[in-house]
Amino acid sequence: PRSIWLSRHGESMYNLEGKIGGDADLSPRGEAYARSLPSLVDQSIEPGQTLTVWTSTLRRTIQTARYLVDKHGRQLPWKALDELDSGVCDGLTYEDIEAKYPEDFKARDDDKYNYRYRGGESYRDVVVRLEPIIMELERNEDILIVTHQAILRCIYAYFMNVPQERSPWMEVPLHTVIKLTPRAYGTIEERWKADI
Ligand code: G3H
Repeated sequence: PRSIWLSRHGESMYNLEGKIGGDADLSPRGEAYARSLPSLVDQSIEPGQTLTVWTSTLRRTIQTARYLVDKHGRQLPWKALDELDSGVCDGLTYEDIEAKYPEDFKARDDDKYNYRYRGGESYRDVVVRLEPIIMELERNEDILIVTHQAILRCIYAYFMNVPQERSPWMEVPLHTVIKLTPRAYGTIEERWKADI
């Protein structure tokens, strides 16, 4: 592909409460990010260039992409872009998890890449379910993806040639557009941070 644009969803109500998983709406700040996204993206494209917008099937990514889709007009929701499934821990805070499932909490810290939530997924599982997405990305041009931190870590690691075992620890900031341009000698990375 020529370039791939990546963004996390805007801040959600669950982010504010420190809860993981779920299907929460955007917070007011997340909504402000959604509104600022078209002009932020404008800074990274050629005049008149349009992007196809991919989201997960969860409300927070669809809401984040809303204004961008109004402008660019093409949107595709993918189940394969949904957040890492935290199984029985869905809707809990990390403090809740540590109190309720102390052994799991430690096991995850010891081997975050392979740790699979009870009834949920590991990062290794996510890398496998992202394979069709990566294949589509290799085929298509000018895709902007609005998805979740764990998913973006794996996509980013793939294009930046970082070993996947390191992806669970990478920081993908909120309210930032990342543009990756693969080249023969490595991937060029540019970032635009929203002023909100
Ligand atoms: O909000 C949850 C993140 O996307 C994944 O967090 O560092 O626990 O895998 P994690």
